[in-house]
Amino acid sequence: MEHFKPENACMGHYFSRVMGEAMGVKNGAIWKSIRRAFDPYFSYQSAMGFSEIFTTELRKWIDGMTSQAGQTDGFIVEATTACTILPFKLIALACYGPAMTDKQLNRLYNVLPTTSKKEMDTFESEWKEFNLSVMREAKMIYQAVLAGTITEAAWLQSLDEILFTNLDVTSAILAFLLINLSINQAVQSELRAEILQNSSRFNEPGTEGSPVENYIRRTDTLLEYTCLESGRLCPAVWFTLPEYTGADIDIGGYRIKAGTNCIIDWARLNTESPLWNPEKRHPGEPEVNGRMFYPQRFQSMSTTTYRWSMLRFGLGGRQCIGKNFASRIMKQFLLEVLTRYRVELDGARPVKQWGTINVELRDDRFTVMPKQNVRFFEVKEEMGKS
Ligand code: HEM
Repeated sequence: MEHFKPENACMGHYFSRVMGEAMGVKNGAIWKSIRRAFDPYFSYQSAMGFSEIFTTELRKWIDGMTSQAGQTDGFIVEATTACTILPFKLIALACYGPAMTDKQLNRLYNVLPTTSKKEMDTFESEWKEFNLSVMREAKMIYQAVLAGTITEAAWLQSLDEILFTNLDVTSAILAFLLINLSINQAVQSELRAEILQNSSRFNEPGTEGSPVENYIRRTDTLLEYTCLESGRLCPAVWFTLPEYTGADIDIGGYRIKAGTNCIIDWARLNTESPLWNPEKRHPGEPEVNGRMFYPQRFQSMSTTTYRWSMLRFGLGGRQCIGKNFASRIMKQFLLEVLTRYRVELDGARPVKQWGTINVELRDDRFTVMPKQNVRFFEVKEEMGKS
């Protein structure tokens, strides 16, 4: 069933000013032409091509944190803060290519808008000026504006959507990976063992056919299941943005008229669907329910089994343009962190339960974002001796 976005995602004037022309809120032919301009840069193939760059950036990020290390009890970081600049930089590299130098990146980060109207005007003009200056070198997606297939506003606002609006989602997703593995030490150890078995210093991601690259690409690994499970348990937002169906539809005995705005209770779908809470189990099947972190549950499931019981990158024909990059970033992130560190929750904070989530959450964000310190301990094992 085709689904559409209501005007400005029902979020009013200010939203329309900064995001009303972005791909995420457009429909029909306009949406298609924006996606056609952006899709090649965010394809699976394109994400694969960033392996080496991502490895270098992830190692720089870890080395930056390690400068605090050397203490016997490891070092502590606030999970979300530690995971903010990292995806921003990785996605900016995907958007702008080599034109995105460290100097440009600093400039870009400082363009972030604040709330008032006056600042919004300044933001709009500085955002345009910044992009035009980088695109003069990078060309890339701007070709579609030059060719007249998308408007300049659609180009600017979609870049804004990709870099700023989705940044919190990716930061939170990485932070939750650290947190879920901190709470579940047994899974963390098993995953580290799998990673060490499949990687070595001489075997870098990005080398076509190399064992570690094959390992990242595989979808039947604990690495894959961990990313799925963390995303299942910790949704990006509690409720999806509104969408409407193109035709009347019956759901659970209710008739939803075409054009009715609907939202999905994301956390509930991902944890309460009968699939996650089976009434009958096969002999030997563990007693796990939908609220537990148990990545191994995906081992015996095909993607079609859980297709309608889990929301991650969207459903149907219209999905997240960043899914190939986000999936790769999550995997390379775990690979780099777990080969060097064991992570634990910092005991200073009381553990709270927020729905499906076992740590405190920030209350100043639109996205579901943890407020939790994580402690990093260096692991002594040598990587990939095999
Ligand atoms: C794990 C992290 C992420 C999750 C869980 C996520 C999830 C989603 C979801 C659920 C949608 C709505 C799809 C729909 O219309 O039904 C979406 C759309 C979108 N996402 Fe992501 N996303 C993530 C990371 C990213 C990243 C890294 C980028 C940057 C490239 C990105 C860019 C976008 C854009 C531009 C849209 C609008 C696409 C369109 O409507 O055509 N996302 N995302």
